Amino acid sequence: MTYPILFEPYRLNDRLTLANRIVMAPLTRSMAGPGLVPTRAMADYYGRRADAGLIVSEATIIRPDGQGYPDTPGIYSQAQIDGWKPVTAAVHRNGGKIFMQLWHVGRLAHSHFTGEQPVAPSAVVFEGTLPRMRELSYELPRELSREEIARLVADYARAAENAIAAGFDGVEIHGANGYLIDQFLHHDTNHRADDYGRTPENMSRFALEVVDAVAARVGADRTAIRLTPGAYVHMQADARDRAVFDHLLGELEGRRLAYLHLGIFDDSLSFDFLGGRASEYLRRHYGGTLIGVGGLTPQSASEGLAQGRFDLAAIGRPFIANPDYVRRVQQAEPLVEYHQDMLAELV
Ligand code: FNR
Repeated sequence: MTYPILFEPYRLNDRLTLANRIVMAPLTRSMAGPGLVPTRAMADYYGRRADAGLIVSEATIIRPDGQGYPDTPGIYSQAQIDGWKPVTAAVHRNGGKIFMQLWHVGRLAHSHFTGEQPVAPSAVVFEGTLPRMRELSYELPRELSREEIARLVADYARAAENAIAAGFDGVEIHGANGYLIDQFLHHDTNHRADDYGRTPENMSRFALEVVDAVAARVGADRTAIRLTPGAYVHMQADARDRAVFDHLLGELEGRRLAYLHLGIFDDSLSFDFLGGRASEYLRRHYGGTLIGVGGLTPQSASEGLAQGRFDLAAIGRPFIANPDYVRRVQQAEPLVEYHQDMLAELV
């Protein structure tokens, strides 16, 4: 067997042990059916990848105004809960585990999908056009009121409960990549003057309220979060963000979540204000299970695990190109190279 360390079982906590240390990263595929309900083809797609130690589902919207891309699945209607059941059943039948990634895109929503003005911590527009829909520009969001923030926290908890009802083994709160929760965590997008803005404690508040509400509903051992301390997409980094993440990570550490997942495309990037790579920064500030990601190969993933730089290795694009990624790596077979044209079809 090649790369034996990838194939060691990993105990997340008393409830969950993973068969190996390979995680399928969350990958938006925009293939949900009418009503943003998962399809049979999605169940087959995830079922084929169930030999990963853990699958994290594609980002799944917690309520209608959280949508920023076409045909992304949801977890707020009964039809969606029912549509996810064949997905979780297929993964479990094939011996796998699957967490749902809970998503609200905040200011990256668009009235084209939602019929409403986007909401965000502050009324700061993202200058640009929507991916694969270049005729649409992002819209100026409306600042969330405190009552609306409380409603959102409750809606994350409800979505987590729905995910468990649909058979998921846990949920990963999408706090990364410039979406709603991340918009609270960075100075570029959070200009609030109330107790959700200005200071590290305040800017962390929404993320922690969501974590606490979700953990209270489904258990901390079934709650995880993905974070992007070095803004690299959808916003500008600001050296002051460092203090926000220092605070947030200290708070998260005590909450004994299932894991912390880095959100990034390329973890060879170095961030001055984080003192190096984003994964190194997280490792220094968080003692629990850490999922590394971002351009990992079987070789670099094995090295990262062996050196203790992270505990589990998430693989994104190669899993799109290779439904049998785990078997190929285990048997030292060559991998098919990813190409973005592969996004057109669920294989
Ligand atoms: C992504 N990524 C991503 N991340 C996330 O948190 N939620 C998501 O829904 C998606 N969707 C998504 C779609 C596609 C087509 C790509 C290529 C990426 C990011 C992904 O989880 C991962 O962090 C990166 O792809 C980097 O890992 P790889 O691909 O270098 O192994």
